[in-house]
Amino acid sequence: MNAPRVERARRADLPELARLAQTVHAHSFADLLSPAALRRDIEGPLSAWHLRMQARSDLFLVARRKGVMLGLAQVGVCDTPAEDLWLPCMLSPGALELRRIYVLPTAQGQGIGTALLEAAVEVAAQAGADMLLDVWAGNTSAQRLYACAGFVFCGNRMLPPDTRAHRRGASLDLIMIRRHRDRIARPAKALD
Ligand SMILES: CC(C)(COP(=O)(O)OP(=O)(O)OC[C@H]1O[C@@H](n2cnc3c(N)ncnc32)[C@H](O)[C@@H]1OP(=O)(O)O)[C@@H](O)C(=O)NCCC(=O)NCCS
Repeated sequence: MNAPRVERARRADLPELARLAQTVHAHSFADLLSPAALRRDIEGPLSAWHLRMQARSDLFLVARRKGVMLGLAQVGVCDTPAEDLWLPCMLSPGALELRRIYVLPTAQGQGIGTALLEAAVEVAAQAGADMLLDVWAGNTSAQRLYACAGFVFCGNRMLPPDTRAHRRGASLDLIMIRRHRDRIARPAKALD
């Protein structure tokens, strides 16, 4: 199987990118969200208009094989208020957040998620920033992917009481962080 090509999305990609995000969301979360909640997401935060607004500040990466868009990742500055995060550790200033990583159901299990995640991690490495993400506690497949890329469990996200009201037994999102390696050289050991 050819390696996917991962690159930064262009403005012209946004309608296709929105369709992809909506397809993956509807397929992946149909048994977690009520039809009404799914529709709200698709017409709200995953609509082409919202994604265009988000693209003003966030970076969208797309994965293609033979020119066909198969996956996306969205990276932005972590803007969750500190009081909504429960973290027993500090984040680096300007920490980045992996807001979404979505691969079309028909293309999953072929390394596309891994390629997108590597590209997203590289963005954080270039910025010298920690990267944070949240993942539904039951999404073990995504958690394995993140752990392989060096993310570790660090806490959970406190959600508004009604946010996940329609999720069946899925009230918790876990926070995972990938630390940026400290690039500052350690001071040389003083001579005796
Ligand atoms: C989570 C998600 C992004 C992973 O994407 P993916 O393209 O399937 O990921 P990969 O193919 O790189 O890795 C997934 C699995 O396939 C395996 N795999 C990777 N490359 C492979 C290849 N060439 N051949 C066969 N299997 C392969 C991996 O080992 C991994 O196995 P595991 O689940 O047992 O650990 C994707 O499943 C998805 O979009 N899910 C729905 C949305 C979602 O939950 N997003 C994350 C939370 S927002």
